[in-house]
Amino acid sequence: MTNHEVLPLLGQVADSVSQAIAHARPELAGADPLVRRSEHADFQSNAALALAKRARTRPTELADALIAAVAGDRGPITRVDMSGPGFLNITVPDQLIWNQLAARLASLRLGVGTPNEGQRTVIDYSAPNIAKEMHVGHLRTTIIGDSLARVLGFLGAEVIRQNHLGDWGTQFGMLIQYLDEHPEATWHHDELEPGTSAASALDDLYRTARALFDADPEFADRSRRRVVALQSGDHDTVTRWREIVAESERAFRDIYDRLGVLLTPDDSVGESFYNHLLADVVTELTEAGIAVGSEGALVIFSEEVTGPDGNPIPLMVRKRDGGYGYDTTDLATIRYRIHDLKSNRLLYVTDSRQALHFQLIFEAARRAGWLTDNVEAAHVPYGTVLGPDGRPFKTRAGGTVRLMDLLDDSVARARAVVHEKDPDLPAEELDQIAEQAGIGAVKYADLSNSRIKDYTFDVDRMVSFNGNTGVYLQYAHTRIRSILRKAGDPHVVIDPTIELQPAERALALQLDAYDTALTEVGETLEPHKLCGYLYDLARAFTSFYEACHVLNAEEPVRGNRLALCQLTARTLRHGLNLLGISAPDRM
Ligand code: ARG
Repeated sequence: MTNHEVLPLLGQVADSVSQAIAHARPELAGADPLVRRSEHADFQSNAALALAKRARTRPTELADALIAAVAGDRGPITRVDMSGPGFLNITVPDQLIWNQLAARLASLRLGVGTPNEGQRTVIDYSAPNIAKEMHVGHLRTTIIGDSLARVLGFLGAEVIRQNHLGDWGTQFGMLIQYLDEHPEATWHHDELEPGTSAASALDDLYRTARALFDADPEFADRSRRRVVALQSGDHDTVTRWREIVAESERAFRDIYDRLGVLLTPDDSVGESFYNHLLADVVTELTEAGIAVGSEGALVIFSEEVTGPDGNPIPLMVRKRDGGYGYDTTDLATIRYRIHDLKSNRLLYVTDSRQALHFQLIFEAARRAGWLTDNVEAAHVPYGTVLGPDGRPFKTRAGGTVRLMDLLDDSVARARAVVHEKDPDLPAEELDQIAEQAGIGAVKYADLSNSRIKDYTFDVDRMVSFNGNTGVYLQYAHTRIRSILRKAGDPHVVIDPTIELQPAERALALQLDAYDTALTEVGETLEPHKLCGYLYDLARAFTSFYEACHVLNAEEPVRGNRLALCQLTARTLRHGLNLLGISAPDRM
């Protein structure tokens, strides 16, 4: 086994059952040992049930053969029993469990390996649109993408973050023209009232400009000429466009700072960046016969997807007016990321409604020979954020929810629940904790819901100390930190000869499974699996703490229990950090 600092017990047991399978029935060698955690024993294997048919025998008979083979091996298994129709219930020795914990405690990485080493992974996330407000959907991509960047990076991948800002398009002609004709319009952060962002001021101005464009044909003409001026690099127009981009980015940065995401200005590689590459991309696709003319436009007809009318769905490569759009730019992103960034894993974190777009882009890239079998390209879709009425989350007036307001609201409610729990907290500390809890609550609510599903934004539930919430996990961490502080934060040495109590055992096995949980997130790209793991860990700790004395236990039991506390606190903190959530020491 490579890339494991400390091989999880689950993996050790699986290896052992694999060997038993190969030994008992050589014709089944290599079959999945189907080992998982179990409530009836430490682990359970369903291999006998799954493989009996192939072995032309009954499950119970195969199970007996496997039990005999395991017994002949000095592997990590102390006891195997058959249960039900042929399940194998597997128990591992206490000493081995303690040794696993000691090895994890001794490791800065908690014993977690780097299975994603050698993967150069581009993660395209956040990508709000310039001169528009960031909306709740951008909050999801930002939070999910950031957590994936952290997890994959920790697992050894070389992560390249790409913030594909919507900073190009004909709408800028209209906006720039309007601003020129209305010098009194305010949108620069120097002129705005505190609390208003340039992005929202520009969003308003854009709507006004749009209305004028529709009502006044002469303004519309002047706007179209502005688009041409922008595209041909006219100095004043480009300068104005740059100012708009900078002001919007400034407003986005306020949100990023508040959320504590990894994105930096260097990660901003917006649509405009690809502008100089588009003509070449189009030529390549045309010469290869992949892009073809259709009613004056240039399109790529899918060979895989047809529309409701039975005709192949087209990807728009060049519009009739000669312009390029979102599709063309994404053809350029994929070519650039594979050929220039030399990436072998490409992830696009966007709304699930863009699934077809990416399916078509990936198909075209495969046909063009850019996307080969050595490269994985995946759309990482997510569901819609719903309001209390079960419809897409909007303000009462039906507008976009301002993200800053939403974060302020969550922090204010977190402040109230934290204050209620501990009224003696000094104001300054309360403010700091409220900020960590409130932001953590929003992030955790987003991450803990299955990525692909819609979820309902419910602030009161998010900041609750009960249930699967960020606040609950942060609080669980502070409770353990407080136990450790009372014990004087000792350097603990585990005595592996001590017999494990059932609650200690359940906690220990959960701690050992951190590795497995992270690897699964790395493969499925579903952060809610890490949330679920951490929640189960916090609950296993609670059961342990209810069943076992820690501070007033006798040595060496006390030392071992403090070790369990330490490893739990570190694992919780580490896991929260991979979700982008801070773990305060007190709450
Ligand atoms: N700006 C787009 C939006 O707001 C998202 C861009 C996602 N990335 C991409 N390469 N298409 O929906």
